[in-house]
Amino acid sequence: MAEILAVGEALERALALLRGGDVVAIPTETVYGLAGDATNGIGVARIFEAKGRPRFNPLIAHVADMAMAERIALFDPLSKQLALAFWPGPLTLVLPQRPGNGIHPLVTAGLDTIALRMPRGFGGDLIARLGRPLAAPSANSSGKISATTAQAVAADLGARIKLVVDGGATPVGLESTIVKAEGERLRLLRPGGIAAEDIEAAIGMELLRGGAAGVEAPGMLASHYAPGAAMRLNAGTVGEGEALLGFGSERADGWRLAAAFLNLSETGDLREAASNLFAYMQILDSSGARIIAVEPVPFDGLGEAINDRLSRAAAPRDNILAAT
Ligand code: TXA
Ligand code: MG
Repeated sequence: MAEILAVGEALERALALLRGGDVVAIPTETVYGLAGDATNGIGVARIFEAKGRPRFNPLIAHVADMAMAERIALFDPLSKQLALAFWPGPLTLVLPQRPGNGIHPLVTAGLDTIALRMPRGFGGDLIARLGRPLAAPSANSSGKISATTAQAVAADLGARIKLVVDGGATPVGLESTIVKAEGERLRLLRPGGIAAEDIEAAIGMELLRGGAAGVEAPGMLASHYAPGAAMRLNAGTVGEGEALLGFGSERADGWRLAAAFLNLSETGDLREAASNLFAYMQILDSSGARIIAVEPVPFDGLGEAINDRLSRAAAPRDNILAAT
């Protein structure tokens, strides 16, 4: 069972776990978050594993200060204005990523944008000490409501994580408001802890609402990286000119003919495979092959989320919205 430590005594233990690529449940002003080092693919894979997420939705990267935020993302003037007005606080900004920012692609599900937030209190202190951003979805297992006390986190995830940091009941009690710049306007992607009216007052204009063209709700497939190449799943053979995305130690027939080959995990470790998934799809896609054949990946543990993401990437492009 997870250890529960009060904020005053948890910092060193939390740092040690995060530096070792493990996850920690932490209080934020909105809800408890299940945090991992956003630059460490294994740490990020462990977040999905502990939550039992059947999908890899993009996560929010939490920062300690504006300098860290600007190393990760490119701010337009409106987003900058909101950050200065509401950070630290329950506001998440979706921004273009700064190339080479070191954020692991599993955090963003391979998107070229990133959701950023600067939390108040313990989370901010922890990130400042770690010197790295923390990826953190709400600390609840998939399909359950977000936890607002350490006891609720421990009851739900306690068997799967080592530490819950207890900061008492979270003051806001619901998730952050998410907005995204679109040209000269801002779109409300998720209502939350800061009222949309307060954001509108700060920027002196109305927020766009409803789904953006081609984008369903945040985290849905249409907003995710879709390879230019077609994907052929559960491949037992490789056709000439196809790229091959492998898994485990057994190879598909004809694999030596593959135009390019990468193995998600030679040892069949699903955590390692999850951490390699988005980067490897992108690399094979940029190899120029028209088809990426993918060896079978088992469905247990993180395999369910890996298979979900693969089948979404393989869905016919016309059906991409229907497939969400
Ligand atoms: O208050 C909160 O926001 C809490 C605390 C822990 O910070 N976190 C939280 O995370 O609610 P999560 O993972 O439960 O929700 C994150 C939301 C998802 O709806 C996801 O799809 C969206 O943020 N999101 C993340 N990156 C995105 C991106 N690049 N574009 C659009 N939406 C994004
Ligand atoms: Mg959540």
